[in-house]
Amino acid sequence: MASAGIAKPSFNFVGSSGLRVSNLCLGAMTFGESTLGVPGQCDEHLSHQIMDRYVELGGNFIDTANVYGQAGISEKYVGSWMAKRQNRNDVVISTKVRFPVDPNNENGRGLSRRHILQAVEESLQRLQTDYIDIYYIHCWDQGTRIEETLRTLDDLVRSGKVRYVGASSVTGWQLQKIVEECRRLGLNPWICLQAQYSLLCRSTEFELTDVCRNEGLGLLPWSPLKGGWLTGKVGCSVKPPEGSRLAYVEANPERRSTGAWPSYKEFAKDEQVLQLLDIMEKIGKEIGKTMSQIAIRWLLQKDTVSSVVIGAKTLQQLDDNMGASGWELTQQQMDELDEASKVEPPYPYEIITKMGKDRKRENSCR
Ligand SMILES: NC(=O)c1ccc[n+]([C@@H]2O[C@H](COP(=O)([O-])OP(=O)(O)OC[C@H]3O[C@@H](n4cnc5c(N)ncnc54)[C@H](OP(=O)(O)O)[C@@H]3O)[C@@H](O)[C@H]2O)c1
Repeated sequence: MASAGIAKPSFNFVGSSGLRVSNLCLGAMTFGESTLGVPGQCDEHLSHQIMDRYVELGGNFIDTANVYGQAGISEKYVGSWMAKRQNRNDVVISTKVRFPVDPNNENGRGLSRRHILQAVEESLQRLQTDYIDIYYIHCWDQGTRIEETLRTLDDLVRSGKVRYVGASSVTGWQLQKIVEECRRLGLNPWICLQAQYSLLCRSTEFELTDVCRNEGLGLLPWSPLKGGWLTGKVGCSVKPPEGSRLAYVEANPERRSTGAWPSYKEFAKDEQVLQLLDIMEKIGKEIGKTMSQIAIRWLLQKDTVSSVVIGAKTLQQLDDNMGASGWELTQQQMDELDEASKVEPPYPYEIITKMGKDRKRENSCR
């Protein structure tokens, strides 16, 4: 046990790479004043406390991005924490490039050679380190040829400034294209995908999980609690608590997204969501686990997942979420959760799923 009855996380390789990370990764999107004006984000002191506690509980993997918080403040807090309180080599740090930190700089966005090389230097400076363990493209860039992006990131790996490369928020064909182009050009293969994946976001299973499985990429789900929806603190008639992210989105509907910033009202009238929450609560009561732990545990037991990227705004939330490690849902409970959260696949996935069953191979298609 790591502390107060919380089991230590286990360690996994990221995909088929040799990099070992704890199965729970601490997301740093809640660190620092947000560009979106979200209330209650962690100040530097609390961010440091959360990272201290995470490491004390056995975690070794922190995820940030150059655009988390105003002017890269999340990276700065991770950097000041590492400089003051942490041996750099004991932690694995991931960060991202694609979106603008300075919206006025015409070349300060996208995945061009020019922007990536500028952004990586700025991230290294804010993180107070000379290497990034995993450098992600934060999203596909339709304005830059993929070969330019791939070659630039490969140069960074060869220079040692970046150890490994990963993708985030891409489609199935884009991820496969990255894999194939790296192969064709003889570049270092990318090792992982960070994608939204949860009991309330299963479209990731339409294609991305197959690419990860077939190509040896580790999957790192983000927003495992769907921004707070899978914690049990909201329901049909239970409105989001004041100061919470969900309450913020309700008050600022223009901030709503299908990702980390879901609408309260939309889900509150969705019968399937409410039934899913009931089932999570029932299972939680049976085995003495919280709903957040059930939601994270369900992800941990999916075969392609290397580490789940958790978010926390308080030490209590962190402890709760870290409690998803060290025990297992039974196959029956997994099946129940799968069934309750299943989505009807749109065309062409519907036909492929139905007609493909008689021709399914259990192992890799290669
Ligand atoms: N690659 C990408 O594009 C991308 C996008 C989004 C996130 N991410 C990564 O994924 C990480 C996690 O994403 P996320 O913050 O959206 O995750 P999430 O787990 O879906 O939501 C976290 C939020 O839920 C609430 N919460 C968390 N634990 C709780 C608990 N045990 N009980 C009650 N409420 C709880 C907190 O908000 P309130 O207290 O305000 O309710 C917290 O800020 C981020 O930090 C980031 O590193 C990546």
